[in-house]
Amino acid sequence: MGCHGNKALLFKLLKGVQSVKFKNLQMTKSCKYCYCSHTKNALRFYCSSQKKSETINSTKLEAKDLVVTNKLHIPVLKNEVLDCFTSTNGKTFLDMTFGAGGHTTSLLENITDSHIYALDRDPTAHQIAVDLAKQRPNRITPLLGRFSELPKLLEINNVKPGDLDGILMDLGTSSMQFDESPRGFSLSKDGPLDMRMDTDRFPDQPTAADVVNNLDEADLALIFKKYGEEKRHKKLACSIVEARSAFGKILTTKELAGIIESVCPGAYGLDSLGRYSHPATKIFQAIRIFVNNELNELNSALEIAYQYLKPGGICVAISFHSLEDRIVKRHFHSIFMDEKPNLSFIQKQRLMDKSRVYSTEEIDKAVIRRWEKMYKNVIVPTQEEIHMNTRSRSAKLRAARRLP
Ligand SMILES: C[S@@+](CC[C@H](N)C(=O)[O-])C[C@H]1O[C@@H](n2cnc3c(N)ncnc32)[C@H](O)[C@@H]1O
Repeated sequence: MGCHGNKALLFKLLKGVQSVKFKNLQMTKSCKYCYCSHTKNALRFYCSSQKKSETINSTKLEAKDLVVTNKLHIPVLKNEVLDCFTSTNGKTFLDMTFGAGGHTTSLLENITDSHIYALDRDPTAHQIAVDLAKQRPNRITPLLGRFSELPKLLEINNVKPGDLDGILMDLGTSSMQFDESPRGFSLSKDGPLDMRMDTDRFPDQPTAADVVNNLDEADLALIFKKYGEEKRHKKLACSIVEARSAFGKILTTKELAGIIESVCPGAYGLDSLGRYSHPATKIFQAIRIFVNNELNELNSALEIAYQYLKPGGICVAISFHSLEDRIVKRHFHSIFMDEKPNLSFIQKQRLMDKSRVYSTEEIDKAVIRRWEKMYKNVIVPTQEEIHMNTRSRSAKLRAARRLP
């Protein structure tokens, strides 16, 4: 059997897996430069494009030698992120959303002597960071936790407020989470209704099934409206409550998607690429945001970014829907979450009641500008990137410099 025959066999054995990571080589099913050959006791993997090879004693090959990345997460706006960080001339960065490490790897490869603190709340992503840290000694510090746990994690690692040159948050879910049906994020693949990015790290954290089966109709409707911006929020909440009282608990992604489809048959929308989107898309988004407390987490992340960046340090945020983008935009425009949007600093000062004594915090809110935008407009992927990676289609990058 030829080299490509061996590779085909390997991927056949790893049913459905698209990419496998060895110590220093990423073997991808579709890469025409990746080969695999074997001698009596050894398996040799090599890629002429990565110019890397790996030889493994096949008699000792164990599952732990392979980091299976079911569908490799392709980093979005990779070069644009790199441009932001190279402009800082700094070396110490925090990747708040490590995922499969695409952005971290690009920073490590392109910024000499850089050090990355790599955070993720997902234990699978964290394990990839741990493995990468072994390959690149002293360049990565893997951190397992949520954005809101960062102050504690950074303190343990002796990172103090004002120490960092750049912070990246590439929000939302990774392909590894989305494509794994047991994680329960995807409505096109059947799996348990889970959606917890942290998996079992917090036994008290509700799963998507807990939300769907235990909340009352009014609360479900509110979640669908607030986090899914779903116009049919009341109707869909009512249908879920009726379905669970008629048929018992709703436990799988297909069951939930089916209930929603039965209430609004044929109500397929079109996404930004003109492809049909399932009527349950916004409901799945809403439940995921609720289960993972994503918007509060994002708000904390932006506060933490301000505290931990040096003056002049850069924060880059990539968002994938308008709820996230709105929060990022407000922070970068120094509009606090409890304020009316779109007020200029002058307008804010005019609105202050001259006869009242304000606290220092209130005055700071009105007069202190915290960030300076790096670009006038949001950065979006090129048509070419969208064509290569359709998941990038709704990405919006905003970058801002922390003011002193
Ligand atoms: C879009 S992926 C990042 C992909 C990554 N940039 C790459 O190139 O592979 C988002 C990641 O952020 C993580 N994440 C989302 N919210 C988080 C939070 N509040 N705290 C920590 N990690 C979070 C998710 O678990 C996921 O792995």
